[in-house]
Amino acid sequence: MNLNNKKVIITGAARGIGYEIAREFLKAGAEVALCSTTEEGAKKAKENLLKEFPSSKVYAQKTDVSKETEVQNFVDNVLKEFGGIDILVNNAGITRDTLAIRMTEQDWDAVLNVNLKGTFLMSKAVLKIMMKAKSGSIVNMSSVVGQSGNAAQANYSASKAGIIGLTKSLAKEFASRNIRVNAVAPGFVKTDMTDKLSDQIKEQTLALIPLKRFATTTDIAKAVMFLSSDDGGYITGQVLAVNGGLYI
Ligand SMILES: NC(=O)c1ccc[n+]([C@@H]2O[C@H](COP(=O)([O-])OP(=O)(O)OC[C@H]3O[C@@H](n4cnc5c(N)ncnc54)[C@H](O)[C@@H]3O)[C@@H](O)[C@H]2O)c1
Repeated sequence: MNLNNKKVIITGAARGIGYEIAREFLKAGAEVALCSTTEEGAKKAKENLLKEFPSSKVYAQKTDVSKETEVQNFVDNVLKEFGGIDILVNNAGITRDTLAIRMTEQDWDAVLNVNLKGTFLMSKAVLKIMMKAKSGSIVNMSSVVGQSGNAAQANYSASKAGIIGLTKSLAKEFASRNIRVNAVAPGFVKTDMTDKLSDQIKEQTLALIPLKRFATTTDIAKAVMFLSSDDGGYITGQVLAVNGGLYI
């Protein structure tokens, strides 16, 4: 896939799915700006990406996507560095899993703030730039549990279902400006987020997946690339499930 000189923002790209999306975009010739929760995470990700893709352009900044001033500062700096933003991937996300009856207000707020509000804030800041350019593509990271629901993930599932509503609304609002907005809904992907689940839960989940394997971060990155590139140029407001058949 050719994404030569496309300017891409990826949130939460210090590790896991976000980092792999950054690698795939750089491989395809894009320029990548990433943010993550810690200074060290952002710095290390940039260093490692430049080690692998030495002639590429990579910008990294510690940014909490749930804080509007930090988001605006990050987007302003990316614009200064790159001169434009063609693609936004809202990938940053967290979990605070527990049964609803034990879920605290803080557990609820933390997850909704990062996953849903963060996706809104970053989209809002970037959409202003894309509107002026009359072009752009946004891909939001939902989840299979935003479609199916999941016990002990009321906050997370609600945030990921909310992302689907947000995606469809923004798609309708910005289609006339030639800006497309889609979502990817991964199933179970092997990352730090899922490594903390018990072996029992992992085995139970695997038994429910028709393709009989967990997703790799590359499986998810390829779907994000397709939707955000011109290959997906007539697709907007859609949710692409990448879940091995876990939810059909
Ligand atoms: N791993 C899975 O099985 C799976 C399944 C479905 C959806 N997802 C979604 O994919 C995305 C990436 O998941 P992952 O498994 O790579 O997670 P991960 O925990 O490995 O990485 C998450 C990244 O988000 C960043 N982040 C967290 N809070 C942030 C904040 N407030 N501001 C900026 N960055 C922040 C972290 O620094 C980290 O780089 C998430 O949105 C997650 O919900 C993951």
